[in-house]
Amino acid sequence: MARILLGVTGGIAAYKALELVRLATAAGHAVRVVQTEAAQRFVGAASFAALTGAPVLTSEWERDPARGAFPDQAPPGHDPLSHLELVANADVFVVAPAGANTIAKLAHGLADNLLSSAALAATCPLVLAPAMNVHMWEHPATRANLALLAERGALVVAPTEGRLGSIGEWGMGRLAEPAAILAAAESVAPAGDGGGPWDGLHVLVTAGGTREPIDAVRYVGNRSSGRMGFALAAAAADRGARVTVVAANVALPRDPRVAYLDVTTAAELQVACEEAFASCDVLLMAAAVADFRPTEPAANKLKKSGRAELLVRMEPTADVLSGLSAARRPGQVLVGFAAETGAGALDYGRQKLARKRLDAVVVNDVAAPGIGFEGGENEVTVLTAAGEHHVARSAKSEVASAILSVVERMRETTTAGPAQ
Ligand code: CTP
Repeated sequence: MARILLGVTGGIAAYKALELVRLATAAGHAVRVVQTEAAQRFVGAASFAALTGAPVLTSEWERDPARGAFPDQAPPGHDPLSHLELVANADVFVVAPAGANTIAKLAHGLADNLLSSAALAATCPLVLAPAMNVHMWEHPATRANLALLAERGALVVAPTEGRLGSIGEWGMGRLAEPAAILAAAESVAPAGDGGGPWDGLHVLVTAGGTREPIDAVRYVGNRSSGRMGFALAAAAADRGARVTVVAANVALPRDPRVAYLDVTTAAELQVACEEAFASCDVLLMAAAVADFRPTEPAANKLKKSGRAELLVRMEPTADVLSGLSAARRPGQVLVGFAAETGAGALDYGRQKLARKRLDAVVVNDVAAPGIGFEGGENEVTVLTAAGEHHVARSAKSEVASAILSVVERMRETTTAGPAQ
């Protein structure tokens, strides 16, 4: 997890900064945004505030309700100067889009608004993602200003060539893709500061149970509470990882160290997982994902009058975990969860390990009283290619920690590869 301070300047590409914030928060980073006044003419502060979960600042003279703290931090007891406190807390300062005027100010040390003052006070790495009209980009003043900033250590994420904001305009100056800007920010942000064993790792957890609509008010769901997934997320954060949780209908307290993507259906869970998966090192797929969904959910509430029975036709959903496993890159560790009932549970688990090409499957017998879905305790067996590890009945937080220890050993002893 990194604390990313994002400066947004005025330009049509400011709308792409929203996507950058979305990607950064989905990847588990804490983000604060400062905008110039011109930027607010293109994209309103409310959008950035909603995506970051934190106030957006424009002027040095407005009070910061978060007192310079990032979403994962508690605000200090005093009212600090916003531009100083924000940059003191940031791991990296990203300016995207960086317009020609702001680039010129930064090159010459001007401090006439919150963004430029913050940049002057920043000691963390600076990432600039310029975007502007092709003639402004090619102007010798802009070239010289950027060269000066690069010489001083700023990382410039070059714009691309293509259709520009104004109708009919083509050339260099399009803002780089948000994913490329985020990758640049991550490459210069210091990796973790807690000295934990999982510092620098990104852990993606799915939690809860999906709901598939039958009509406007009813759904097909399951009893998963999300407790096991949330316990895994907390245990990963304890070890210093940056953690993203895809939460399917979980009504549990949230952990300020964790980034949450809330979803309802299996299809939404799939989209959220596919987005966060590429950057993760460990996937813990604890969610109970529906295998079937109503083929034609009714837009309105179904009425009972005139019906002797109600048949709901169902169609299969995608197997999200198998899809992610097929797209895995070397080094990622993928852990599936199998809630089974009674004898044969471990055999079913082994079959899933092989079929879904996973590194581990956590099997629990949800028919045993007090174990599994809603309870605070669990008892599991972790199956890997090397053997099995039984975790005796204990609090879900302890079970979570034991599962992570198995993952940690696998990461140490193997260059993780799928079970064959
Ligand atoms: N899973 C998934 N997508 C689905 C169903 C399950 O990603 N549509 C994941 C679950 O999150 C879990 C693992 O696959 O980590 C095993 O889930 P489970 O329901 O036990 O497996 P299935 O393949 O659906 O087998 P079963 O016939 O036992 O339901």
